[in-house]
Order: sequence, then C-alpha cells, then structure tokens
Amino acid sequence: MRQPSLTSTASFHALETHAIEAEDWQMRSLFAADPQRFERLSCEGAELFLDYSKNRLDGRTLELLAALARERGVEQRRDAMFAGERINNTENRAVLHTALRAPRGAKLSVDGQDVNADVHAVLGRVKAFTDAVRSGEWLGHTGKPITDIVNIGIGGSDLGPKMVVLALRHYAHPRLRMHFVSNVDGHDMDAALNQVDPETTLFIVASKTFTTAETMMNAQTARSWFLANAPEAALARHFVAVSTNTEAIKAFGIDPANMFPFWDWVGGRYSVWSAIGLSVALAVGFGYFSDFLAGAHAMDEHFRTAPIEENMPIILALVGFWNRQFLGAPSVTIAPYHQDLSRFPAYLQQLDMESNGKRVTRDGEPVDTPTCPAIWGEPGTNGQHAYFQLLHQGTDLNPIDFIAALRPAHEMEHHHTALLANCFAQSEAFMKGKTLDEVRIDLQQQGLPLAEIERLAPHKTFPGNRPSNTILMERLTPATLGALIALYEHKTFVQGVIWDVNSFDQWGVELGKVLAKKIEAELAADPQPELHDSSTNGLIARAKAAV
Ligand code: F6P
Repeated sequence: MRQPSLTSTASFHALETHAIEAEDWQMRSLFAADPQRFERLSCEGAELFLDYSKNRLDGRTLELLAALARERGVEQRRDAMFAGERINNTENRAVLHTALRAPRGAKLSVDGQDVNADVHAVLGRVKAFTDAVRSGEWLGHTGKPITDIVNIGIGGSDLGPKMVVLALRHYAHPRLRMHFVSNVDGHDMDAALNQVDPETTLFIVASKTFTTAETMMNAQTARSWFLANAPEAALARHFVAVSTNTEAIKAFGIDPANMFPFWDWVGGRYSVWSAIGLSVALAVGFGYFSDFLAGAHAMDEHFRTAPIEENMPIILALVGFWNRQFLGAPSVTIAPYHQDLSRFPAYLQQLDMESNGKRVTRDGEPVDTPTCPAIWGEPGTNGQHAYFQLLHQGTDLNPIDFIAALRPAHEMEHHHTALLANCFAQSEAFMKGKTLDEVRIDLQQQGLPLAEIERLAPHKTFPGNRPSNTILMERLTPATLGALIALYEHKTFVQGVIWDVNSFDQWGVELGKVLAKKIEAELAADPQPELHDSSTNGLIARAKAAV
C-alpha cells in the first residue's frame, strides 16, 4: 500500500506544532529542571549504552517521535525485513544481512531456500580455509606459509573489512599482515605490491557483482604481477574470490573451489558479515569472527524485540530525524574516542549516505522533507584540534555522536583517563556553551580593562545548546564492535522507513560509472574527440597534453 507523504501524517503535524514550542529550549534549563534527565534519556542493549539526554528534546518530544515511528510502520517494516520479504522494491530483493549473523538453526527460508543452512555452510568453509591459512597448513606455491593478505575490493567490499580489521588489531594473528587495495589509482596497488612477496601473498578478490571496474582492474594487475614470477597453476594457492557471480569468477581464472559465495539479498554496504568478511576472519580467526557476528545478532534481537521507547536503534534514528527535520542539521559528525575506530566514520558514510541519500520515495514520488544528512568525522581527540571550532562556534547546528570504550586495550591508564575526560568534556561544552556574561566575568578576573573585555567577549562566547549522543561500551571487542555496526545499520533502516525511501538500492552511483567508461576510452583515443561541454573537453585535452 502507498505510504501517505511524511508531512501529511498526523504525527508529523503534531511534531511540527511541538517543534515551534521547543524552538527556544535551552538544554541547560532542561537539565536543571529534571535531575533524572540522564536516567530518563538513556538506554542499553547488546552491551552498548546510549546517552541521548544532551539533545534539545523532552519526554513529550519522544512520545511524538514514537507515534511517528508507529504511524510510518517502523515495526511492521522491521518485521518484514527480518522475515525476508522483498523490501528492496527497485531491485526486487529481500534484505537479509541479519540472517548472516543468526545462530545455526534459526528458521528462515526465501523462495523455498533454507537461508540459515546456506549461511552456515559458507561459514563452515570460511572456518576451514582461515584455520588452514592461519595455522600455516595452507602453503604458497613454493611451499612457504602465507604472510600477507591483500583484499582487493571497493565500497562495501573494502570499507567494512578494512575498518573491522583495524578496530580489532589487538586480536590479530602475529604472522599475517593485512593490506587493502580499493582505489583504481595505481598508487594504491603500487603501495601494497611494494610491501609483499608473491611467494607468500594471498589475494582476496572481493566483489559482490564481480563487475566493478576498479576491482576488476586491480585484480587483473595483481594477477599479472603474480604471474610474472609464477606459473599459471600457482594461481590456485594465491587467489581466492568472494562474490555472488560464479561465472565471472571462472572467466577471471579463479577456481570455483576457491570461491566463497554470498547472495543477492546481501547489500554491499551490509556485507561485512558475509564471506566479504574473509579478511576479518583471516586476521582475527574464526572464533572472534563468530563473536563479531554474535554481537551483531544481539543488537538484532534488541532491535526486533525492545519496545520503541527503549529501542536503541529506533531512538538514535528518531533523535537524528528530529535534529535533521526540526533543527535543520545538515550533517552529523561521528567522533570515535578510540583510535582503533579511525575508519568507522568512513564506513558509516557509505552505510548511511548510500542508503538514505535519496530524493524520491519508494513509490518514486519526490520526498517532501530533507533526507540523509552528510556524515563525516575523525577520531577524538584529533578532531578537536581541527574542525571542532566550527562545531562549537560555526553558524550551522551539527550534531555529534561520541563513541567511547570505558576500558582500553593497553596499559597506559593516564592516556585513557585523558581520552575519556576529553570525550565527556566536549559533550558538556557543546551542551552548555559559555554565555557572554560568563566570558565577561572570566576576563574581569584576569584583570583586563573594560574596553578589551568588550572587544574580546563575543569571540570567546559559545552558544552551546548543540546536540550530541554518547555511545559507551565496556571495551572494544569483536562482540561490541558487531553490536555497534548493527546499531547504525538499524538506525539507518528506521530513518529510511520514516522518510519512505528505499535504503537498499544505490542508483545514484551509476551515471558517473557510465561516463567514466566513455572518457577512459576517449583519453586513450587519438585524435582528441570533443564530445562534451567545454569544461570536460578542456580537462580531457589537458590530460592528453600531459601524456
Ligand atoms: O558503486 C557502488 C557499489 O555498488 C556499492 O554499493 C558496493 O559496495 C560497491 O560498489 C562495490 O561493489 P561490488 O562488491 O559489487 O564490487
């Protein structure tokens, strides 16, 4: 059934009226008026804790947002996703990344196919293969154990594995060095090949479609580089593939016995749980990879069963929606106060923006509200010394998600204390700000003359009242990382349902791909064709002149 437009719903109208009342709310006053605010506006699930009290909202706002979630059918759509219905309506596909982390024996079939049995059969192969490589039983063609793994993939076939391998570096195998090549820019491949020895290197060609231009070019380059020093028969010990496309793998020259399959109901940006996570399982071992899946499953269960008012992904989504829609926030900053999560913002960029960066509804009608904000960020405390200036005193309101582990994976306690102090201080500073009067008092106490106080005070004033969430975990482990990623996956899903966009297609990436193919041919062609606008023609001409 066709969804009514978002702005025509009763719950949206109620929120609009409420937003006018809330326009002048100051978080300082909200905290002062309610000593229980932190307890009231925080929740827990799957070993994660979410504090969303430092947002410009109150209990009534949440009631209205929960009503919106109900009116938009969040619970029904969630259940449809878990049940394997074809909710990706422009590609006519089910969306079942949750099935990839369901324990053995979970009942789910799609088109009569036992999905759980298929998933666990592939996991069994991942275990056997990764155990063999890690133990040294799997040998290169000259009889040496593997020392280097090069994952060749892009987008979801790169960002997830790379982010997770980095985040779980404390769990990694000491012999195996992990490399990730994604960019068609030859510098990326060059940097990796310069560090590895063909006799001891395993290449994983990771591509759902096995047609992605960058990955195919990188894979061919790696193959030629390898074959420069080895016979064709050696490929089978050094090249494996992860894909849904068996025919293309065979055509590339990889033995189907060395292929780890997955399925079209796994979106690229939701695929780290599938065999696309092969590099993760190689790095940390199948046991920890299973813990990673189990952590995500725990979040799935929380999302599936917790009431809206206590449901962490739904709350995160609704608060984000409130900030985007009624506070006009154009972007969200992801600030992991954990260096090992340094690639997490980049991972979320694809997850969120490729999912919800849409301008038409599932029925193809123009949306009538803004959709996905831009997502960006860097680990704290580095961001503090770069762009936090804009977040504190810039003209736009830019909500922040702070993410931290309470216990570190190292023994330098004083570093960790300083890190957490910064994390908590920043969220306090964004909330409280510093008023003109407070600044004046400070400057008076420093003994500055009145004229100097008045000159400096506006520069030193912080408006505050800037929203943030804080997500805490005891430690960054395979399980808590799995839960954290699943939290954001489901947050993205819920926002997609509110906006009524299809969060599982990505047609917006197609046009550039097609034009790049054309221009690639033109760059190689002679003489210079003039087929474009003057800017594009001019750029092509300059590139050709430089050859
Ligand atoms: O072009 C976008 C995209 O399709 C992403 O959605 C995907 O994660 C990436 O390219 C890589 O795709 P593949 O795994 O098929 O190579």
